[in-house]
Amino acid sequence: MTAEAEIRRSIRDTGPITFAEFMEMALYWPDGGYYSYLPEAEPFGAAGDYYTSPLAHPAFGALLAAQLYQCWRLLEGPASFYVAELGAGNGLLGRDILTAAADLPDDFGRCLRYVCVDRHNAPGYGHEPGWPGVARITAAGTPLRRLRGIILSNELLDAFPVHQVRQEQGELREVYIGLNDAGQLSELLAEPSSPALAARLEELGIALAEGQTAEINLQLDCWAGDIAAALDAGFVLTIDYGRPAAELYDSRLRPRGTLTTYYRHVQTDAPLRNIGRQDMTAQVDFSSVVNAGSRAGLTPLGFTSQGQFLRNLGLDRFRRRLAAMPLSPETAAANRAGLTALARPGGLGDFQVLAQGKNVEQPQLWGFEPSSAGAELTESLSVPLLTDRHISLPSGWPAVEGLGASHE
Ligand SMILES: C[S@@+](CC[C@H](N)C(=O)[O-])C[C@H]1O[C@@H](n2cnc3c(N)ncnc32)[C@H](O)[C@@H]1O
Repeated sequence: MTAEAEIRRSIRDTGPITFAEFMEMALYWPDGGYYSYLPEAEPFGAAGDYYTSPLAHPAFGALLAAQLYQCWRLLEGPASFYVAELGAGNGLLGRDILTAAADLPDDFGRCLRYVCVDRHNAPGYGHEPGWPGVARITAAGTPLRRLRGIILSNELLDAFPVHQVRQEQGELREVYIGLNDAGQLSELLAEPSSPALAARLEELGIALAEGQTAEINLQLDCWAGDIAAALDAGFVLTIDYGRPAAELYDSRLRPRGTLTTYYRHVQTDAPLRNIGRQDMTAQVDFSSVVNAGSRAGLTPLGFTSQGQFLRNLGLDRFRRRLAAMPLSPETAAANRAGLTALARPGGLGDFQVLAQGKNVEQPQLWGFEPSSAGAELTESLSVPLLTDRHISLPSGWPAVEGLGASHE
C-alpha cells in the first residue's frame, strides 16, 4: 500500500488524523514514503528535490572533522572515538569527515569510529565495501549506549513530523487531515490532540496571534532522552535551519508557520499533493531543542550560524589556498562556488549549529569562537575538492531546503 493509500485508509478507518501523523506517513511509510528511498525518488542532488551542505562541498565534512578532533582531545583521546551521525542519509558527510580525519594529527583518523544511523536504508557509502571505519545502522533513534564521543546530525530535526496549530477565535486549535465530500484529502481544525501542544507554547512564553499557524515538534524530548542515554560523555552537534522560538513564532514574519514542501528543486508549499514524492519540512525551534536537552542532562555549549561556525574553523583559509591551486578554470569555479555556498547568508550560511555536552567541562569549542586554533589545524589538511558524489553549483541551484522565499 502506498503512503497516500495508507493515509486514506487510516482516515476512513478512524477519522481525521493529526498533521503530524499525516507527515509521519508521507515521509516514512515503508512502502513509498518519501524517505523510504525508492530508487526512482532520490531526494538529494541533481536528480532529487534539494541539496544539503555535505553535497555542496566536502569542506563541510573537513571543517567538521577539525571540530571533532578538538572534541576527541577534550575527551582525552579515547582509542575508540564514536561519532554517531543520525539521519545520515546517503552517508556522504561521513565519507568526507573520515577522509579529512586521516590527515589530522595524533592518529585521530585511526581512533574514529563512524556510525551512520538512518530510519531508512538509504543507498550510499555505508554500503560500499572497502570503506573502513563506517558502520551503518537502520533505526529511528540511537540504538547505542556508553559512548564517549559525538552525536552529530545535519538536517535531521527538520524532517521530524510536526503538529500544526492555529489560533482561532481566541482558542488554540490543531490542524487535522481528513477527507472532504469529494473524497479529497483536506485540512480541518479541531481540539488539540494533546495538552502538550499548549504546554509547549506556554513553556516558551509564546502567545500566538489571531489566525497564526505554527508547527510544534513533540518528539524532541524523546529524541533528547535517547541521545543523552547513548552518551557516557561527549558532545551533541546539531546542524539545521531554524531559530530560537521568539523569532520562529514571530507572527509578523511567519504568520503561516514554516512548513514547506520541495519537489524537483522547487518550493511547492502543498503538503497534500505529491504524497511520498516530495519532501516536507519545518524549521527547527532551537529553544525547544535546548530545553529538551537540558531536561535530559545535556548542557548547551554553543549556538551560532553555520557561516560563522565554518569560518571559525578555517573556511576562508581553504578559499585562499584554493585560489593558489593549479586547477582548470571550471574546477576552480565549481569549488569556489561550493565553498561560498556553505557560508552564504540567506542560504546554508544561515543554518544554525548547536553544541551540547554531557559529562564534559564547559569547553570553548573552536567552531563557536573566533580563535585561530581550529583554523590553524585546517592548514594541516589538503583543500578538499568536489568529487562526482557532490553537486556542482554554478549551473544554478535554487532549492536549499528550508530557506524558501515564501517562508522567510
Ligand atoms: C533531510 S535528510 C538529511 C540527510 C543528510 N543528513 C544530509 O544532510 O544530506 C533527513 C534524514 O533523516 C532521516 N531520519 C528522519 N528521522 C529519523 C530518526 N528518527 N532517526 C534516524 N534517521 C531519521 C531520514 O530518513 C533522512 O534520511
